[in-house]
Formats: sequence, C-alpha cells, structure tokens
Amino acid sequence: MGSLAAAIEMPHAVCIPYPAQGHINPMLKLAKILHHKGFHITFVNTEFNHKRLLKSRGPDSLNGLPSFRFETIPDGLPPTDVDATQDIPSLCYSTTRTCLAPFKELLHKLNDPSSNVPPVTCIVSDGVMSFTVDAAEELGVPEVLFWTTSACGFLAYLHFRQLIDKGYTPLKDESYFTNGYLNTVIDWIPGMKGIRLSDIPSFVRTTNPDDIVLNFILAETERSKRASAIILNTYHELEQEALDALTSLLLPPVYSIGHLQFQLNQIPENDSIMRIGSNLWKEETECIDWLDTKEPNSVVYVNFGSITVMTANQLIEFAWGLANSKQTFMWVIRPDLVVGDSAILPPEFVTETKERSLLASWCPQEQVLNHPAIGGFLTHSGWNSTLESICGGVPLICWPFFAEQQTNCRYSCREWGIGMEIDSNVKREEVEVLVRDLMVGEKGQEMKLEALELKKKAIEAATGPAGSSYVNLEKLITHVLLSPT
Ligand code: UDX
Repeated sequence: MGSLAAAIEMPHAVCIPYPAQGHINPMLKLAKILHHKGFHITFVNTEFNHKRLLKSRGPDSLNGLPSFRFETIPDGLPPTDVDATQDIPSLCYSTTRTCLAPFKELLHKLNDPSSNVPPVTCIVSDGVMSFTVDAAEELGVPEVLFWTTSACGFLAYLHFRQLIDKGYTPLKDESYFTNGYLNTVIDWIPGMKGIRLSDIPSFVRTTNPDDIVLNFILAETERSKRASAIILNTYHELEQEALDALTSLLLPPVYSIGHLQFQLNQIPENDSIMRIGSNLWKEETECIDWLDTKEPNSVVYVNFGSITVMTANQLIEFAWGLANSKQTFMWVIRPDLVVGDSAILPPEFVTETKERSLLASWCPQEQVLNHPAIGGFLTHSGWNSTLESICGGVPLICWPFFAEQQTNCRYSCREWGIGMEIDSNVKREEVEVLVRDLMVGEKGQEMKLEALELKKKAIEAATGPAGSSYVNLEKLITHVLLSPT
C-alpha cells in the first residue's frame, strides 16, 4: 500500500525521441538521469525501432523497471523488416502527420487509473517531434523540447525562415550548387561569425520550395516557440555565443545540460537502469579486445554514424586513403552505408591492411572513443559523435554529410580547433595526408590538446555543484518539469 502511494506521488515524464539513432541515444540518457532524480519514466519508441531494439539488444534490455517503462506508437510508414535507417524525408513527413493521434491515445491510457502508473506530469519531446506540444497543451502539463543538435546547429535552423525571406534558399537552379554561391558569407545571424551558406544545415541546399525537410524544419522551429523550455545537449563553455543568441531570440528558457554522459556517469554502474541500452544495430564488442592490444593513441577510428550514405567510389577513396596513410585503423562500415549497394572493398586493400586494421559493422562507439588506443576520429560530424569525441579527448577529421553536420564541422574546425575538414568530393590523397596529420603530425597534437581541454571543461560543467550544465538541469527540473503550467 505504502509503495503504491509513493508511486502515485512520483512525477511522471513521458520521453519521446525522434525515431533515429542519433536522437534516441541522448533522449535515453536524459530519461535515465530523470529517473535517477525520482521521475517515473515512460519512454516512447516507434513500433519499428522497438522491434529493432529487441532484436539487437535482447528482450531483457527493454523490460524496463516498474518505474521506467517502454511504450510504442506507429510511425505511419509502411511496415518493413529491413534493419536499416528509414528514409528521413518520409519519416519527417509521416511523424508530423500521423503520430499525434496515437500519442494522445497513449497519454490517455497512461492517465487512466487502471494503468497503475502515476498521472503524466510533463512531456520531454524531441525538438523535431513538436506535434507533442499540442498534446501537452491539451493535457495542461509542461512540455520540454529537446533539440539533440548543437546550439549552433539549432541557431542556424531557427534562421531558415529569414534565409528564405532574404532569398538565399531555395537555390535559383542546379548551377547554384557548384558556382561558388554556397560560399556566400551570412553576416547577419547573431552569434555565428563568418558563417557561409555552406555551413548552414544542408537542408537549405534545395531548388524546391516545397522540399519536405526544408518545410519540416520551418514548422518544427516555429512550434518550438510554444514549448515550456528548450534543452540542448551542449555546454555553456563550448557554445556560449550561440547559447546567448538563442536565449535572446526565444521566449521559452533555453537550458544547456550537456554533456549528458558526464551527468549519467554520476549514477552507479550497478543501478539496474544502466542495463537499458539504445543501439539499433548489434554491437560488435570484440573490437574492444582488439583495441586492448594496441598502443595508446595509435588507432584512427572511422565511423559515419547511423544515417550517412556514400557512393561505392567514395568508399574506395576512403579505403585507399587509409591504406596509404600507413596508420592503424578501425573502420565501422554499416551494412547500409553504401547507396543501393553492399559495401565491397577491393581485395588488395584488405590484404594490404589486414595486419593493421579492424573492420566492423557497428560498435559501442562511446566505449571506443574512450579507449586509450584511439588517437583520432574520422567522422561525419553528427552532434553525438562530435560530443562523444570531445568526451574522449579525441581530435577529428570531418566529412559532414547532411543536416547540421556542416555547422558542427565548421565549429569543430574553425572555432574549437579540434578538427580538420575533408572535401566533400573525397579523394584518397587528401585522406592519406589528413590521417597522417591527425595521427602523427603537429596539427594532430595541437588538436588533441584542445580536445582534452574541452573535455575538462565538459566535466566541470556537468558534474556540479557549480557546473553550468549541472545547475541548468536542476533548474529545468524545479522550474519547469515539476512546475504546473
Ligand atoms: C544524426 C546527426 O547526428 C545529427 O547531427 C542530425 O541532427 C540528425 O541525426 P547520426 O548521423 O546517426 O545522427 O550521428 P550521431 O549524432 O553521431 O549519432 C550516432 C549515434 O550512434 C552516436 O551516439 C554513436 O555513439 C552511436 N553509434 C554510431 C554507435 O554506438 N555505434 C556505431 O557503430 C555508430
């Protein structure tokens, strides 16, 4: 009886990520932290991803706990058994149009006294699942929007309306992709010095005014203004200017609460919440044993995240660049990395590099980036990957693919001094030179020191009691999540 009464008293946060790996991971971290701070959690996955998680992690990892439960809603796309990243424009289109009704139904079910869970007291939703704001308003509970991007990326997204109004996008015609127009400097976005059109999230690179993702971003950023608060997985000491600009631009308070991993590290490892994982692909943990056999700072880690795709030719350029650099490398090649094809590496490449390479299809990335053997990271500049690299004190080579990865790349290379950019039209010679610079060059050494410095600041920010992110999380909980609307 006593425990039931206690359970009923618990605040109940419904956490709903956008259904892609780079969004589920940070949302799960936040959900665990909130659980540790006394919240009952309902974590909402799409049916498609829930099935994949069951497959990759086994049923035990999703059984949850009495006070941390998983629920699912459909994503609105036709059912499929293919374990690959869903098409992003289709997913944006369908989540916006179809997810509100099942989400409201779920809230209704959770609030039914027979559900045996405390009534829902707040919603923590991905910034690009902002249809949830309608549900929160209807229910009369606070809604926090979690933009899982960098602050600079989010700031750039918030200026899409002005970029359209001022005529920067849509591009006039196809020639604008190659005629140097993308180098145009945008000097009017506060907090983003010297930014070029090419550094703005890639969705502006369209000639189509009806482009699904361009219009999706417009709608999502517009609805952000209705949130009770906006949170970002970044920290003040890294992105002060962008965060200050966001604060002056937006009505809802903006809280930087990252790096969430460092906040999560405060929870004892044997807490049963820690066995819950979020990888949609099965992790090949053997790579850690392989890294254990390597010298400190001797391995280049290559991984392009969960969405990036490349042509067979680009794969081959990367392969020969890595081979010719003569460095030891660990390369994760997702089964769906190469467009419309399976990733086939030349047999001569495999023979030539087999003594100093490890190929895998998915790995426990954070563990890898924290391994002493890793000396550098060739990345697509996804925000999680960038932060995780800072967390490991590992410098970068950046090959941004899409979304705000271009912006993250710009900041990594020009503002934070932890990265070197590789041309989008990748050539083996450039890969070879940059990989060598990263691993054994002076530039690599300098970037490593910067990355270690940023790591130190990230730890200070996240692990209080005076740390900026630590204090912001406390404020978020007291002033927003536990505060009736
Ligand atoms: C993307 C972009 O990050 C983001 O910039 C954009 O807003 C949309 O989503 P993704 O391309 O997958 O996500 O990259 P990233 O943000 O780096 O997230 C990938 C996550 O998967 C990371 O947390 C990484 O640790 C994890 N991962 C990746 C693994 O655990 N193992 C792998 O082998 C590869």
